[in-house]
Amino acid sequence: MNRDELRERLNFYKDLGVDEVFRREPLGQAILSPAGVTVDQGVTLASASLPSLAPEGDTLLKILQDIGDDCRRCRLCEGRSKIVFGSGNEQASLVFVGEGPGADEDAQGFPFVGRAGQLLTQMIENTATKEGIPIRRPDVYICNVVKCRPPENRTPQPDEMETCGQFLFRQLMAIRPKAICAMGSTAAKALLGTKEGVTRLRGKWHKWRDIPVMVMYHPSYLLRPYNQDAKREAWEDLKKVLHFVYD
Ligand code: URA
Repeated sequence: MNRDELRERLNFYKDLGVDEVFRREPLGQAILSPAGVTVDQGVTLASASLPSLAPEGDTLLKILQDIGDDCRRCRLCEGRSKIVFGSGNEQASLVFVGEGPGADEDAQGFPFVGRAGQLLTQMIENTATKEGIPIRRPDVYICNVVKCRPPENRTPQPDEMETCGQFLFRQLMAIRPKAICAMGSTAAKALLGTKEGVTRLRGKWHKWRDIPVMVMYHPSYLLRPYNQDAKREAWEDLKKVLHFVYD
């Protein structure tokens, strides 16, 4: 494993909330392999013994199967009806990440199908049309940080985000989009590991691993009548993302 691969793997563990990784001391006498990597006879490399960055040949289907039909990894399972995995183009160049399912999404099993979802669809399709970019909602991929509806639509708690975040990260790695749009502070926090608010983060490029991330206001926030400035800013941010990805 070279330095870049090792750095990438450690970043992956950091994303999962693992702060410390211990390197196993080689057993027996260490020898240098032809590739210049230290190994001891017949014993796997310390770093090679770590689980892989993501399961080999990971796919959205495999991730969905790993979540299972009746995931009980966190307390959000108690109130949910349906697990909301994600929808859209599995080879999308652009992925939108929201917070977690609301009532409509919980009932239907698909992300962003309620009022906020209708606004998101309009924003994507109207902005794309205006800018001469030939994409529609089914061309992008949309998912959430947590896959089960939090009770009363409360903000997901850190342990819920951490537990479900591993599946979000696998989704992003399986799709490998050209850019990610993080909608709202929960998505920004999950992807960027920051407590900074959307007002400060929006409109600028950040990175999740090596993928550019644009933060924008969550569509639910834009539905509030007094947020006219935020609406204009969200449209500007979306325009920026669409041109970056599709020009
Ligand atoms: N809000 C979200 O964050 N996600 C949805 O799927 C719907 C509303």
